[in-house]
Amino acid sequence: MTNSLWYKNAVFYEISVRAFKDSDGDGHGDLQGLTEKLDYLKDLGVDCIWIMPIYPSPLRDDGYDIADYYSVDKTYGSLDQLKTLIEAAHQRGIRIITDLVLNHTSDEHPWFQSARADKNSPYRDYYVWNDDDKKYAGVRIIFQDVETSNWTWDEKAVQYFWHRFYSTQPDLNFDNPNVQDEMLNVVRFWLSMGIDGFRVDAPTYLFEREGTNCESLPETHAYLKRMRRMIDADFPNAIMLAESNQWPRELIQYFDNGDEFHMAFHFPLMPRIYLALAQGDASAIVKILNDTPVIPANCQWTTFLRNHDELTLEMVTDEERKLMWREYAPEEKMILNLGIRRRLAPILNNDRRKIELVNSLLFTLPGSPILYYGDEIGMGDNLNLPDRHGVRTPMQWDDSLHAGFSAGTPFTEMVQGDYHYLKVNVADQMKSQHSLLRTIQKMISLRKQYAALGGNQLEWVETDNPAVLAYLRGQGDEAILVLNNLSEHVQVAHIPAEYQTSGQNLFEDRPYILNAHVSLQPYSYLWIKL
Ligand code: NOJ
Repeated sequence: MTNSLWYKNAVFYEISVRAFKDSDGDGHGDLQGLTEKLDYLKDLGVDCIWIMPIYPSPLRDDGYDIADYYSVDKTYGSLDQLKTLIEAAHQRGIRIITDLVLNHTSDEHPWFQSARADKNSPYRDYYVWNDDDKKYAGVRIIFQDVETSNWTWDEKAVQYFWHRFYSTQPDLNFDNPNVQDEMLNVVRFWLSMGIDGFRVDAPTYLFEREGTNCESLPETHAYLKRMRRMIDADFPNAIMLAESNQWPRELIQYFDNGDEFHMAFHFPLMPRIYLALAQGDASAIVKILNDTPVIPANCQWTTFLRNHDELTLEMVTDEERKLMWREYAPEEKMILNLGIRRRLAPILNNDRRKIELVNSLLFTLPGSPILYYGDEIGMGDNLNLPDRHGVRTPMQWDDSLHAGFSAGTPFTEMVQGDYHYLKVNVADQMKSQHSLLRTIQKMISLRKQYAALGGNQLEWVETDNPAVLAYLRGQGDEAILVLNNLSEHVQVAHIPAEYQTSGQNLFEDRPYILNAHVSLQPYSYLWIKL
């Protein structure tokens, strides 16, 4: 696996190890369980797995609060089991990236424990302290449903400490050269073990400077570039993927000259897919992609529909957010911070047409797509669970007790009602050629079969119908015309003269003649190879 640009056209799959597959019956998913399911992922067409944090942690933020950067929490298994997983994945041509949480540690990390206990501790300066809570005034609060300030008073330290997320996640002080070096050691440690790169958590917030919004500061970019230089020198096939919820023009600073991140999530595109669907009008998608600058040739966007967090609506206007809440989060309990804490299928009312349509966009628009585990079978969520836990419930493998996830009692309450595992599970959907799982599998395999779908070439096709999003992918010998009807009504799309030709309907695998007009069923899509 030596292609250093592998990520430019790869299908990613995000996994909560705890929720994926339990191998030893303790109710918690583990590394061995995941290893046992690699063939499933291979079959689905996954090229790279992103595993959420598996480090020791008090789990105040489900592992994004790390108490030890150099080991694996024993509920998941051992470092040896991780090595076995990596080997088994690599044998199947699947890569593995994991979360690198740079910005903060757990407050139970020994560094913080030492720092708060003693002003003279070598770790005191690992964190950001102040005597009052007035510094960096006006910096936005991210977990605004829970936190009221980015400063928290610490009784032991007799000072305030700075945190951009929960108050159990003190920010590291990147002005301290020891912190900078330490985190490079962490990177080396995991890459040496065979990990293929990192989804870098919250890289936006590493440095703080008075009078700024403390986001994406020049110092932050400089440090990230230093990390990239080290990776390029010693681990040339490994990648850094930025989790930075910003506008495209700011996001591209994370690529810069192709010498910072390899990849970045396209955060603003994601809500616009749902917005366009709610409006029955494609303009929001067209506009954001037109506003997305060209990126260096060695970089790539990662696109996604859902992940383990709430579907964040920070990147839309107040008006658009209200519309989306009305449409997709009709009950108060579905809203979290500025987002929606539901899974893909429930958000779309389990309407198979809509679920397929948004996936059609995901797999045909430019960027490397990331699937969230379970969304390929249309799993539901459990709104009884707090915070974002409702979208992190056990994978539903079959209709046996506990969904084939665990022989013991699962770590959390499973999904109930319409999305119960008796109704939604992998085994059933494997058996049927018409299941959502089979459709997603087909989309992935078509995407891989046709380089045009995996490239970055995109040309809008004018259909004289705002409800239809039409575009040409690729060019010359391999060009694919994609038509998506975002509306609840049948729509007629005008086909410009140059595309009125004979082609191949990729899903039905049979000839398709493009005439002056194409009639599209509600929420339907067509992929035509010209
Ligand atoms: C982003 C992660 O996706 C989220 O789950 C976490 O709570 C924050 N970063 C803090 O690490």
